[in-house]
Amino acid sequence: MKPFSVALSGKGGTGKTTVAALLVRSLIAAGRVPVLAVDADPNANLHEALGVKIRETIGGLREEAFTEQIPPGMNRTDYISLRFRKSLVESDGFDLIAMGRPEGSGCYCFANDLLTTSVQLLERDYQFVIIDNEAGMEHIARGTLGIPDLLLIVSDPGARGVRTAIRIRTLARSVGVETTPVLLVLNRWKGTTTDEIPAAFDNVVVIPEDPAIEDADIRGSPVGSLPPGSPARVAVENLAEIVVKMAEQKRKVPRP
Ligand SMILES: Nc1ncnc2c1ncn2[C@@H]1O[C@H](COP(=O)(O)OP(=O)(O)OP(=O)(O)O)[C@@H](O)[C@H]1O
Ligand SMILES: [Mg+2]
Repeated sequence: MKPFSVALSGKGGTGKTTVAALLVRSLIAAGRVPVLAVDADPNANLHEALGVKIRETIGGLREEAFTEQIPPGMNRTDYISLRFRKSLVESDGFDLIAMGRPEGSGCYCFANDLLTTSVQLLERDYQFVIIDNEAGMEHIARGTLGIPDLLLIVSDPGARGVRTAIRIRTLARSVGVETTPVLLVLNRWKGTTTDEIPAAFDNVVVIPEDPAIEDADIRGSPVGSLPPGSPARVAVENLAEIVVKMAEQKRKVPRP
């Protein structure tokens, strides 16, 4: 079964990692397991938001897979697959892989191909793949995003933030992500009404400013595990329901 992939984009500090972690947790809580969390930001921190540790990233594999001595009796594909399994963090309901920094040419293509191949090799029935990207539009411009089943553009509610979100959407459309549904996620919403929500996007999800996130930040606890009922968590649970419906529409997802 092909997993339903959700990529998160947006300008710096808008809450991509926070929303990604909460989304992973919400999908798990809804029984949509297993989930694969992909940290595609070279400054990997999704693992912290999810409260797990990473040992190594797969970015470094590029060089090593072609220069290091492959152990006797192993071919290169087996070796890559082995190293990939070592980079994969297995946790309750989800696995996490961090792409790390690409080496050599500065291109992620190899790491991305490796990721796709390795996920296939894992033969695990991931129901969802959640990809947390680096800030900005570079990954879209370079095509490192691949073609997800759903693109979430995270923005602050300000006019400038939304303009950036629109630019990201336009760019994504121009590099082959035309048919992918795009949802605008307005994070850190402080208003009481939704009147000011921009009309530029058909689908907009609002996530309120949540003091529990700041608390988690200060205490250094994983933001993915906010207390039940906290506003941002509830909002992302609703987002997860939308994501599940979209996945079901795309193909029949077995009920838990
Ligand atoms: N709904 C929210 N309420 C309160 N604080 C929030 C909310 N969402 C995110 N934050 C805070 O905003 C900051 C940035 O969040 P986060 O790291 O998730 O953004 P990011 O888009 O992943 O950043 P980067 O571009 O650096 O990867 C963090 O301090 C986080 O705790
Ligand atoms: Mg981030």
